[in-house]
Amino acid sequence: MDYWRTADIFIMTEHRDQQLRQLISLLKHGDFHSGQKLADGLSVSRAYVWKLMQQLESLGLEFESVTRKGYRLLRPLELLEAESLQQAMANEGMSDWQCDVLLLTDSTNEQLKGDGFCHKKVLAAEHQSAGRGRRGRQWVSPLASNLYWSVGWQTQMPVQQLGGLSLVVGLAIIKALQSLGIEGVQLKWPNDIRYQGKKLGGILIELSGDVAGALQVVVGVGLNMQMGSTLAQSIEQEWMNVNDLAPDVSRQQVLAKTIIELNQALELFEQKGFAAFQKLWQEVDECFGQKVSILQQHQELKGIGAGVDDTGALLLQTGKGMVPIYAGEVSLRFRD
Ligand code: BTN
Repeated sequence: MDYWRTADIFIMTEHRDQQLRQLISLLKHGDFHSGQKLADGLSVSRAYVWKLMQQLESLGLEFESVTRKGYRLLRPLELLEAESLQQAMANEGMSDWQCDVLLLTDSTNEQLKGDGFCHKKVLAAEHQSAGRGRRGRQWVSPLASNLYWSVGWQTQMPVQQLGGLSLVVGLAIIKALQSLGIEGVQLKWPNDIRYQGKKLGGILIELSGDVAGALQVVVGVGLNMQMGSTLAQSIEQEWMNVNDLAPDVSRQQVLAKTIIELNQALELFEQKGFAAFQKLWQEVDECFGQKVSILQQHQELKGIGAGVDDTGALLLQTGKGMVPIYAGEVSLRFRD
């Protein structure tokens, strides 16, 4: 079989994800793995292994390849496991939640929207080809490096009360990180998870449904865990990894803890609204007392961050008094 024929089969195979998973799991043990050993492990040819490795590289997996030695991952790697996530949640009385982990997808938010929507479903992926951030930005999503996940949540809450939701999600993530010994993480209104001014992650909430009836909410979270710097060159702002703060904390642990905290936070939010979180926000508010400027519809509003009100609106102390800024297309910058 010549090379191009092999390539055709490669593209058409139905088991591609399975084979990539198997290959990653063979590579995760030990040092160098020869192409032949990997080929034997997968019952495929060496040429096919080379093709799979090329695909893993294009998806952002970092490894070295040395003649006569083979392939070696640059860092240890554990893929996320849906089953143990499901178990961790069942242990917390969350048996009504459903978990799924995809190896490759376009965007977990996109997958959970519309026909794919499911209440209390967590969908995580190891790679997103079209991960998106706020304001149409791309969310860099290299393979098995970070956390990319979305949760489906159906609610009867009026849409006007959902302004504080991304803040509530941020607070749940902080609580989960604290339970794993990670302190000092802050939130930049309305959706950035940061440490000492560097972005650790972000939240993207998308709503659909009947404004007069039940709303379908998709909560998407991206959290940098161990992203290599070469893969992140297109990121425009300063960023860092959770594993820089806690090298031994695994992606699986962070994901499980976060979903458990999020479940509790969503229940409280539904019962009491954002008012129940207003005090907690104060403790982690990166904008508080800082000079900030808000860009809103081509207008710049300058002021000092003064916390949030009981709906989650950012309060800005300006020369003309206190101005509430509601969730929307605003861009918040710190001023010197
Ligand atoms: C931001 O800070 O701009 C929000 C980023 C949100 C990224 C996550 S990754 C999982 C989910 N799927 C997406 O396509 N986006 C969100």
